[in-house]
Amino acid sequence: MKIKRMKKYIGGQLGYDNLISPKSNLLKNTQLFTNGRSALFFILKNIKSKINKVYVPSYLCESILQPIKKLGIKFIFYEIRNNLNFKIPKEKKSAIIILNYFGLENRSVENISNDYKKNIYYIYDCTHNIFNKYDNFKVFNKKNIFRFASIRKYIPFPVGAICNLDYVNLKKIKKKNKKILKIFNKLINKNKYFNNSKKNIFYENQLLNEQDRYKLYENRTIFKNKLPEDIENKIKKYNLKRILFIRNNNYNFLKKKLEKKVKIVSKNTCYPLYLTIFLIKDNKKKVFNYLSKQGIFSVNLWPIPKEVNRNNFKYTFALNKMLISFPIDHRYNLKDMEYMASNILKSLKL
Ligand SMILES: Cc1ncc(COP(=O)(O)O)c(C=O)c1O
Repeated sequence: MKIKRMKKYIGGQLGYDNLISPKSNLLKNTQLFTNGRSALFFILKNIKSKINKVYVPSYLCESILQPIKKLGIKFIFYEIRNNLNFKIPKEKKSAIIILNYFGLENRSVENISNDYKKNIYYIYDCTHNIFNKYDNFKVFNKKNIFRFASIRKYIPFPVGAICNLDYVNLKKIKKKNKKILKIFNKLINKNKYFNNSKKNIFYENQLLNEQDRYKLYENRTIFKNKLPEDIENKIKKYNLKRILFIRNNNYNFLKKKLEKKVKIVSKNTCYPLYLTIFLIKDNKKKVFNYLSKQGIFSVNLWPIPKEVNRNNFKYTFALNKMLISFPIDHRYNLKDMEYMASNILKSLKL
């Protein structure tokens, strides 16, 4: 497939920025983990002896299953309906993982709390709504249920996640820890790869058929150590406000351009990760291919893990077919959004 050369590509993983920034301390009181799955690992480890199963939503990012499998806990899927609503399971001696979808608030999540007598524990993945504009981490830090979020999805850094557990005793990191160096080297290699424009095209093109190639450069390790102090300090001092401000402007601009003709799913009460839409026609592949040719790489949240049974969870597969997400992060400006909006509108007619 021929890809039109553009000055700038839109999409792909965030790059690696050295995070030097004098201000901003939104995360100053939180304990940091390497990634979301490590935070979830520690929550589950904390309650493992009290539960015999974990309920997980049928519509989810596969990485949620990784720590559950690693701890050897049985898991059962519960249904997410095609409007992204769900009924929260409740059973003695179990943990229930709940995902926030695209910043949409779900009333039933507000009314739950852990039951320590019956050993019912709720774990809310707040990756999509962590930067709620109105409460500044107040709800996140409440102890009625467990919460975690992968914040590295917002910042150009390969590590960073938080949870509301009281401080977890993580092993101290040895100087020059090889595993963490590997994570950083992977990202530095990825940067080199992306800086080579020919490979950039080749690489992104591969994504059309092989979503998994993306993961080559990703930090997927469950990391049981503390983050090195210098890295932790860098993340805590990162100017989140600056990048969230750009995200906000990009979202609002793109929404305005699309909203009359497109059903927008994500809400901007929390600087969402993407602008996500519902397709009206079953044309996701066509949309994806057309946009890729214009140098715009949309996002498929999420490829359904093989453990989810197609016959039992039809809505989940329907969601995967109809939802498509577009990058709005700080790498882009309003001109990029304008370019993306006009191409999205063209692609939807295919
Ligand atoms: C909603 C959601 N939660 C959690 C995770 C896991 O986060 P991490 O990749 O930092 O382990 C992902 C990963 O892609 C995700 O999409």
